[in-house]
Amino acid sequence: MESRLQPISRADRIIVALDFDCQDDALRLVERLSPATFFKVGPRLLAASSWGIVNALAEMGKKIFLDLKLHDIPTTVGATVTNLGRYPVTALSVHACTGSETLKSAVRSARSLPSPIQIWAVTLLTSLSDSAFVDELMINGSPGDYVEHLAVLSRYCGADGVVAPATETSRIKEVCGNEFVVVVPGIRPSGTRRDDQSRLATPAEAIRAGADFLVVGRAITASHDPVAAFLRIVDEMSSAG
Ligand code: C5P
Repeated sequence: MESRLQPISRADRIIVALDFDCQDDALRLVERLSPATFFKVGPRLLAASSWGIVNALAEMGKKIFLDLKLHDIPTTVGATVTNLGRYPVTALSVHACTGSETLKSAVRSARSLPSPIQIWAVTLLTSLSDSAFVDELMINGSPGDYVEHLAVLSRYCGADGVVAPATETSRIKEVCGNEFVVVVPGIRPSGTRRDDQSRLATPAEAIRAGADFLVVGRAITASHDPVAAFLRIVDEMSSAG
């Protein structure tokens, strides 16, 4: 089975989140940020532009993580994944808490595509604090146990990896194996703002924990010098050894 995913250098492990409200702004950043090879497109940018953004990125030779965070019944998610096969996408996110049937349906559809898409299951939003986890979601157990449990479920259902906080990355690798991809958002290089994120890590911490990919948005996109910000993150990743 041919995969669209072959991580190599440190720079290739950074997925830049194109959280823009206009396609031109997004493409301007991509053009400036020539060392970046992997970009995340989500509902925010799609709602403000068109699916043409995905083809435009592919034509520029970039890999695409389509972060739609699908959350629906098995038939709907399976058919959605099939329809997404028409786009040159490397990976797609589905919420792990949709359960085993939806996850398996997503994986089945993704694997049936002429050019398979990786399915990355979202375990826990990095914006969710411990108190929101307990008081608002009313989930028993610790956030760490919850993330590990959903990672194991996702792997059992055939997902290629999970999106998870850096704090849980090493235990996911331990129970799910090193081949199971762990994608870490909530990345904040030293000295940058927390914004609305709760479960944070520096680039070095995420790499040390075993992250395969780091999702980075505002630390790059809101910087007055995105290229320098990107290269600083690569440096911080390298300092993790
Ligand atoms: O700007 P910042 O680096 O905080 O952006 C993080 C990006 O990662 C956002 O696009 C957000 O949608 C995404 N994300 C996240 N937490 C998850 C999954 C995705 O923050 N669990």
